[in-house]
Amino acid sequence: MTQSLEQLLAADRAHFMHPSTHAHDHASGALPGRIVTGAKGIRIEDHQGKSYIDAFAGLYCVNIGYGRTEVAEAIYEQAKKLAYYHTYVGHSTDTIIELSSRIIDWSPAGMKKVYYGMSGSDANETQIKIVWYYNNVKGRPNKKKIISRQRGYHGSGIVTGSLTGLPSFHQFFDLPIERVKHTVCPHWYRQAPAGMNEAQFVNYCVDELEKLIAQEGADTIAAFIGEPVMGTGGIVPPPAGYWPAIQKVLQKHDILLICDEVVCGFGRLGSKMGAQHYGIEPDLITVAKGLTSAYAPLSGVIVSERVWDVIDSASQEAGPMGHGWTYSGHPICAAAALANLDILERENISENAAQTGAYLLEQMHAAFDAHPLVGEVRGAGMLAALEFMADKDERRPFDATLKVGPRVSTAAFQRGLIARAMPHGDILGFAPPLVATRADVDEIVRLTKAAVDEVAGQVLTSKAAA
Ligand SMILES: Cc1ncc(COP(=O)(O)O)c(C=O)c1O
Repeated sequence: MTQSLEQLLAADRAHFMHPSTHAHDHASGALPGRIVTGAKGIRIEDHQGKSYIDAFAGLYCVNIGYGRTEVAEAIYEQAKKLAYYHTYVGHSTDTIIELSSRIIDWSPAGMKKVYYGMSGSDANETQIKIVWYYNNVKGRPNKKKIISRQRGYHGSGIVTGSLTGLPSFHQFFDLPIERVKHTVCPHWYRQAPAGMNEAQFVNYCVDELEKLIAQEGADTIAAFIGEPVMGTGGIVPPPAGYWPAIQKVLQKHDILLICDEVVCGFGRLGSKMGAQHYGIEPDLITVAKGLTSAYAPLSGVIVSERVWDVIDSASQEAGPMGHGWTYSGHPICAAAALANLDILERENISENAAQTGAYLLEQMHAAFDAHPLVGEVRGAGMLAALEFMADKDERRPFDATLKVGPRVSTAAFQRGLIARAMPHGDILGFAPPLVATRADVDEIVRLTKAAVDEVAGQVLTSKAAA
């Protein structure tokens, strides 16, 4: 690199439009730029040579950890042999053929085919098109609405941003679109009416879903989309029994279930996918992130036999489906995915996620259950979150302007730990690479404790003084 750090940061501020970034604060330099230069295992390094534990695995995607040369070599070999060919009109490459079978092996029973994209958002866009196509060819043109959940996250396109149940993804974009409806977020701690236990809350979620279906008309609702464990909405594992209860309602009303496994798939919950973890039987599955551990961009829509049979027979009349991406089934990304799956399987990384994830949650509980700043400690597999509350007994959140979550995240960063301030509420999220060890967990919890204590010292003192 020939430019100095200052020149690079200035050029970044001048010409690079960053995603999810405050435009003016970045361009003016009020938001400090960070240039990441390298990474190994669970650590990343910045331009100044400072090292950080990445307890969020990038954007919960680097499941196998950073710096695996085996994946780099697979990419290189594939690029030398065949960097690209399209997959339209039945064209294939050996890598994508092998990958498709391997993905089906990772999937729950009943899944048949994989359609490829480059991102979780485009895969969910494909999902909705498949669902609409499915109902059109079945002669049910009115069955088109999609039910998602408040605080669900499914991407930031026009349809997928509508599915996402976070206000900041709708405001200023005229979203959500008409065909998308949101039902309750299954977060017992924050959403349950007072006095309701978890089992009653599951019934409440079911009743709310039934109400929405009745209000809209079951014959207008095509699909329900959900993440097995909500990610960006705040890392929210469902209450026990939630998924079987929801699935029963969907089956009753002939509503397809799209399981968004972009975060949970490929070992994050300690099982192959979230579907197996919770006994979900999806009609369609979305995968991305952990499929390649983000060594190359690749996503997939996994189609069940039931849905495939309809597409298959419809094609006799409808002809080829008018849906395709130039990079669908890209051979370089497929090579990265195959090498990634080799590592996940050979090193039994899901099992490490189960065991080390359980240890992470146990240590978080030990450190924070009684902490005055922390209302709830929660997690599943290698996902965990702390939710900060002004009054934990009354479940009263902090005033959003205090930015408690972002302040804890900054305090952690200053100590060399990356934990994510989730976009909605004062929630600090953890999703380390699945190769993290118990010693890594001890360090993550130690640094988090110091950061939480620092912010508690500021906000609880000012509360007492107020
Ligand atoms: C569950 C889920 N679905 C979809 C997406 C969108 O993926 P992408 O950012 O690759 O478009 C994300 C991204 O975080 C996600 O967490």
